[in-house]
Amino acid sequence: MFKRFWLWLGRLLGKLLVLVLAIGLGGWAIGAAYYGWKFSGPVATEEQIPAGEAALTQSIIEDAIGVVEQHRDNTRVLRDAHAKAHGCMKAEVSVITDLDSDLQRGVFSEPGKTWQAWIRLSNGNAYPQFDRARDARGMAIKLLDVPGDKLTQSPQHAEEQDFVMFNHPSFFVRDVAEYKSNFAAQAAGQKVMAFFPSWDPRSWEIRHMIIALKTLSPAPETPVATTYNSIAPFKLGEHNIKYRVIPQPEACPHYQLPEQNHDLPNFLRNALYQQLSLDRIPACFALQVQRQNPDYYMPIEDPSVEWSEAISPFETVATLTVPAQDFDSREQNVACDNMSFNPWHALPEHRPIGGINRLRKAVYEAISIYRLERNQP
Ligand code: HEM
Repeated sequence: MFKRFWLWLGRLLGKLLVLVLAIGLGGWAIGAAYYGWKFSGPVATEEQIPAGEAALTQSIIEDAIGVVEQHRDNTRVLRDAHAKAHGCMKAEVSVITDLDSDLQRGVFSEPGKTWQAWIRLSNGNAYPQFDRARDARGMAIKLLDVPGDKLTQSPQHAEEQDFVMFNHPSFFVRDVAEYKSNFAAQAAGQKVMAFFPSWDPRSWEIRHMIIALKTLSPAPETPVATTYNSIAPFKLGEHNIKYRVIPQPEACPHYQLPEQNHDLPNFLRNALYQQLSLDRIPACFALQVQRQNPDYYMPIEDPSVEWSEAISPFETVATLTVPAQDFDSREQNVACDNMSFNPWHALPEHRPIGGINRLRKAVYEAISIYRLERNQP
């Protein structure tokens, strides 16, 4: 009697498992077919600016000021994003000597040229938290003494070319309108529901939710062991490109970082201090660009879409070296806090493009001015 029951139950569970697998595979196939159809080229090579974008930008600035004030707890006013720095370090960016003449544009015009620079490494969150918390990790580079007219009029930044990245290849929203609604929902505490704005399944952004979850990833062992991406597109002369900075340890003396204690709140700063200041070993990276191929789905206006490396591989244009140095002083940490990195601190040859970059223009400038004024003694 019991034996028959168990056999029946086993067969039932087996069938249920097959059914669940079939539904899963069917869903995956439908999703793949849908995105294959939706994400197919050709795409525009020019920016397409939706109506109403400027008005949305203004209200996003007001929201961002609300965030920096909310996180101010008898401290200085910090950045609205990437508030916690692991350090600001001196660096050198050298254009490779055999750079393809097609890519010799802007600061990469002169093969062999070395630019002096600052880099700031950070966690993405709006307020400082333990490094072991899942988060994006940022890298901002500022080349110094760069001649030529810039896209911003600000005299303090007249000689700077910035590159601003974090360590995930795609962004969790497609455009300014989605940024506005997602940010508002997240600020109201709706972390997951921000991606499900209504009952209408056509408004659900499951793909973007997955990107957001993946962006919040465990910390690397050290900030010099992860790849930082521009995510949004830029001009490089006549080309449309994305750029990234990828570790190139083989270009530096061999170094094995001692295992870090991940329970310490600032172990990423400790890792940099150990390598650069105690063991005196430099860190090496390659700065690379990926050209848009508009025959394929490599859109300008949607940074939630990663451009395929199989279609357009990254090409190294420069090396980035962070020499051994003492960076963790009070003076340098305050100076680091007072720096402002902005993708629009740029030569016209490196113009940021696409909606998310247009949004960043107004927001970075407004937040930087706001926090620097509020921090004046
Ligand atoms: C492609 C997408 C983006 C990337 C790669 C990125 C990356 C970064 C990084 C690395 C920093 C820190 C810079 C530093 O070290 O000082 C930063 C700062 C900041 N980001 Fe973004 N971000 C992106 C999009 C956005 C968007 C859409 C907004 C909001 C509209 C935003 C708002 C800010 C603000 C307000 C700051 C602080 C600026 C300051 O006070 O100096 N970011 N971002």
